[in-house]
Amino acid sequence: MRIAVLASGNGSNFEVIAQAVKEKKIPAELVLLFSDHHDAYVLQRGQRFEIPCESFELKEFSDKKSYEAALLDVLKRYDVELVVLAGYMRIIGKELLTAFPNRIVNIHPALLPNFPGLHGIKDAYEAGVEETGVTIHYVDSGVDTGPIIAQGKVQVAKEDSLADLERKIHQVEHRLYPEVLAEICKSDEK
Ligand code: GRF
Repeated sequence: MRIAVLASGNGSNFEVIAQAVKEKKIPAELVLLFSDHHDAYVLQRGQRFEIPCESFELKEFSDKKSYEAALLDVLKRYDVELVVLAGYMRIIGKELLTAFPNRIVNIHPALLPNFPGLHGIKDAYEAGVEETGVTIHYVDSGVDTGPIIAQGKVQVAKEDSLADLERKIHQVEHRLYPEVLAEICKSDEK
């Protein structure tokens, strides 16, 4: 399976996925890292793994539609079969969804359907929940609404700061995302 990771920022999830592919724990080829920010730290990680990196920004296009058309061209050029969103901070448009039906996967730092949107960890923390977690799901046209593939729970201790909770969430993400991607790629091989 030829996979592409789309990421906007830090890229710690990209890093664990790239490592798992390198160690053949995920039976796939990581053929492309794309970022919508030229200066995203994830691109440095991509270079360290010697993975082809591409980046362009929405503001370089006249509108979102032509940005997405360019992104689709890139994905086609690399013969991508599975699109993995890892901190990609944009909504996926219709054309990409149509080109990759049930072939776009996202990770969200809360137990969906609770706390969708940009601030899943903070929103759960401020709501005072005792339990939150991580959701991996297929992407549909909504915001964090597609079919759920897997979830990992995280307990919030009374003394946890927001930073503590962020750390716990990322730990679960870094374990769960490579595991789930391995399952998806294995089931595709059958
Ligand atoms: C993760 O918490 C992920 O759940 C969310 O964005 C964050 C990305 O972190 N969608 P990183 O860039 O992989 O470090």
